[in-house]
Amino acid sequence: MNGATAGGSAPGGPPTGGSAPGGPPTGGSTPGAAAPGGSAANASAPGNVAPSVRDELRAAVIDCARRMVSDGLVIGIAGNVSARDGDKIVITPSAHRYDTLRPEELCVVGPAGQPLDLPLRPSSELPMHLAAYQQTAAGAVVHTHSMFATAVATSCPELPAIHYAIGFLGGPVPVVPYATFGTRELADGLRAALADRPVALLQNHGAVAVGQDVEQAYDRARLLEWLAELYYRSSRLGSPRMLSPAELDAFDAQVAALSYGTNDWPAETSDPRGAEDPPGDDAPTGVETPRR
Ligand code: 13P
Repeated sequence: MNGATAGGSAPGGPPTGGSAPGGPPTGGSTPGAAAPGGSAANASAPGNVAPSVRDELRAAVIDCARRMVSDGLVIGIAGNVSARDGDKIVITPSAHRYDTLRPEELCVVGPAGQPLDLPLRPSSELPMHLAAYQQTAAGAVVHTHSMFATAVATSCPELPAIHYAIGFLGGPVPVVPYATFGTRELADGLRAALADRPVALLQNHGAVAVGQDVEQAYDRARLLEWLAELYYRSSRLGSPRMLSPAELDAFDAQVAALSYGTNDWPAETSDPRGAEDPPGDDAPTGVETPRR
């Protein structure tokens, strides 16, 4: 179920920025902030070859960061987004407003955090993003402070199987023990949590989702938040029933049998309209599915 494949070593992040992260709704930008490592860190300086990261990837990272704010998954300058382009990782700068963030202000590092192009200080959570790429085959990482995911992470040992859609996230979601933001300890905790899940909850902090691209990582972050809200609301009504491991296995089997989430017709169905009960001409032709 995991969209992210295991395997990897310790993250070797560069020194991270000391800007305050998190909650302030009126967080300021850091225009002109010096890159760690000085001018040598900035390959876009005269005489250096600017490392190439595809324009559409830069646009996707910025679009995602802005959607995090407009969808209420973060407030102010909280959260961060990164994407992988071959052996380069492009990540949002630290403590910078997303509405004014320009593509050329994104930071680019190598897979072990080697500075390649740092027009601004990179996200303080760079070690966490590097750990996610080292642990998984992800193409993008999204970190939010979304309300219900953070509430569950703060109050519960895990997000349990409240709805079958949690199967798209690999089942119940573990909570990474609290560690200070931006630390190796937090990155190591996330790495362990991502060994068999594409999402994780960070105790007293927030959530992380990885995906094959920015869109999938963001969709997972939103699904995680929806599930956390469902859990919160259901718990207020009483003692919600949880799905059993057997029911989650049956969900997996059904997803496989239906090729759910793809445009492929089930392999065993010769009639593309379905074997037993073909729909009428005006019936829906398919299903809209979350991406896995
Ligand atoms: P950055 O602004 O440094 O990315 O930090 C925000 C955050 O959410 C830290 O957990």
